[in-house]
This record gives sequence, structure tokens and C-alpha cells, in this order.
Amino acid sequence: MTPFKSLLEKKVFNRNHIIEMLSATGENYELLLKKAYEVKQQYIGNKVYFRGLVELSNICSKNCYYCGIRHDNKKVKRYAVTDDEVIECARYAHNRQWGSLVLQSGELNTPAFTNRIEKLLREIKKIGNGALGVTLSCGEQTEEVFRRWFEAGVHRYLLRIESATPELYANIHPNDANHSYQNRIDTLKLLQKCGYQTGTGVMIGLPFQTIEHLADDLIFMRDFDIDMCGMGPYIEHEDTPLYAHRDKLPSLQQRLQLSFKMIACLRIIMKDINIASTTALQTIDPKGRENGLKAGSNIIMPNITPVKYHDNYNLYKGKPAIPEETDEYLKGLEKQINDAGDEIAYGVWGDPLHFFARKNNT
Ligand code: 5AD
Ligand code: SF4
Repeated sequence: MTPFKSLLEKKVFNRNHIIEMLSATGENYELLLKKAYEVKQQYIGNKVYFRGLVELSNICSKNCYYCGIRHDNKKVKRYAVTDDEVIECARYAHNRQWGSLVLQSGELNTPAFTNRIEKLLREIKKIGNGALGVTLSCGEQTEEVFRRWFEAGVHRYLLRIESATPELYANIHPNDANHSYQNRIDTLKLLQKCGYQTGTGVMIGLPFQTIEHLADDLIFMRDFDIDMCGMGPYIEHEDTPLYAHRDKLPSLQQRLQLSFKMIACLRIIMKDINIASTTALQTIDPKGRENGLKAGSNIIMPNITPVKYHDNYNLYKGKPAIPEETDEYLKGLEKQINDAGDEIAYGVWGDPLHFFARKNNT
């Protein structure tokens, strides 16, 4: 057995092991992905869960340096999907037997916003008598808000740590109380405390980011005992401050490959969590999401936001190029998933097995 093959067979992975896996090229890269796919098969099977993604609103109070819809980007046309449209999206997902919905938006902390989300959750839960599982991704909120939303029926929450290294986090966010690393950590802990299936994630290929940072991101996820992960390549946006550092970036193809390696390593070290193939993968390569499945991911989030809003939710460059998820497109996607050896699971929520294992252990 080659040294790399025996590395992949280890039961426990330390920082150096993870750095070595993330540095794999050529044949070792292929071996890494193959191992991750095997682990997925063994621990969670070949089922892929679809979540209908609704980008509720691009109105955001924050100013993250990387994000195209940051508050200070005056070029963005701000929108909010109407309540009726959201319910229509939920019905669409339910009719297609996708077990779950993801509601994502910019971060707002106003009572008008938090009340609206609560009301929407209650409406969505009426569809098919609570048939749809719901994941929220609406940024940092208070314990009171998280509890109210949980009570209204949401049971999963995604809040990316973006980078688990405080210095790198500080390089990509404004230095103020509204963008505090510590608050991000505290909020993630709050989500676990409130009983949410808790997801996080990072951007891959950021300026100033090293392989060591990425290894530390994976170790953070393991130590934090997350249930779900959504991570993908950083894609520069010209109307953001971080664009000034574009000369420091790896190529898009390198960022894509690094993202697959991150997915594969995470699958190998956290065997039973849910890992999403994110939209940013698809932005770099039309087959990016399907290839993510081959690297160990098991969640796909077709974007079902009404098409008229698509051009306004540009977190990064190239986002409008994403095709509309028409029936025909989805049929093609299903075929590719089947060709990759996986199957779409219909009519089930698709909760992360890890959450139940974690609960039983505590
Ligand atoms: N490239 C890739 N991902 C981005 N996000 C925001 N801006 C970018 C970008 N330029 C991601 C962040 C955020 C999520 C909603 O989108 O990780 O948490
Ligand atoms: Fe707002 Fe999220 Fe973009 Fe930051 S990453 S500016 S919180 S939408």
C-alpha cells in the first residue's frame, strides 16, 4: 500500500494528515475522492436529498468584504420575494416531492423581518400537514428569535463561519461589532443549544488563505460537531472591497479542485453529516454540483426563487449564468446523478444522521 493509501485508511486524522490530504494531486487526488465516495456509500448510502432554495431577499445590514449584496453596494437592486411567492415555491417543492426547503436571505434583525419569517414558517408548515422540512439561513439572530422560529417549525439552520481562523476572518470582514468572529461562534453555539440541526461552512480559495487555514476549518467543524456543511469556492465580485486582492487568487479551476478536496476530506473525517454541493461549484463548472457528489456530498439545492429576482442575488460574479431549474433541466440533473451512482430520495426530509447520533451521545 502506498503511504497515501494508508493515510486514507486511518481512523483518526490529525492536522498534518489533513494538510497532506488537502495537498493531494494527480493520482492521490483521485484516490482521495474515491475514498470519500466509499465512505459516503458506507455511512449514509447513495441517496441525494434535494432542498428547494428560495433566496428570500437580498436586503442585508452587513458589509462583508467579499459579498456582492453587501449593504454598501449601491449598484444592487434590492428585492424581497412576496409571501405568496414563497408559499408558491414551497408548494412547488412539495409537489415535486422534495422533502425540504431552504430559505436564505441577507441578514436583518428588525422585528418586521423576524416576524415575517415566523409567519412564513407557520404557513409553510401547513402545506401537506408539515410535509416539508425547513432550513433557514438568515444570519446571526438572538436566542429569543431562534426559539420563536424553532417553535414555528424550522429545525435546521445554516450559518457559515466563513473562516475558522480569527485573523483571516478579520481580513474579510469590517472591524466592528456587527462583524465579530466571537459573535459568530457564540451564535453557532446558540443554534445547537436551541435544538437546531446546525450547519456551517467556509469559502475556499480566499485571498490570504492557506492550506493550513483550510485544514483548521475542517478541524473546527469536527470539534464543533456540526451536522451539516455548505462550502464552496470564493468567487470575486468587482463591486466589493476584496476585489482589490484578486491578484492573490488561485485560478478558478484550482479553487474548484480545492473545494472538491475539502468536501472529500470532510466526508472522510465526519462520515455521517450532510454535505451540500453548493451553487458556487456550479458557477465555475456547469457540472460542479454533480462532481461534488462524487467527492462525497449528498445534498443539492435547486434554486426555485422566482426567475425575475435571480439577477439581483449576485453574491459573486457569474451567478446570473446559472440555468433556470426547469423540469427539463432537472430531468438531466437526475440522469447525471444516477450516472454518478447516486439516487434522489423523494418524499423524505433527509435529516443528517449525525444529528441523531450526536443527540444520543449527549
Ligand atoms: N464567493 C463565494 N461565496 C460567497 N458568499 C458570499 N459572497 C461570496 C463570494 N464572493 C457566501 C458566503 C455566505 C453565503 C451566503 O454565500 O459564504 O455565507
Ligand atoms: Fe450580508 Fe451574508 Fe452577504 Fe455578509 S455574506 S453581506 S451577511 S448576505
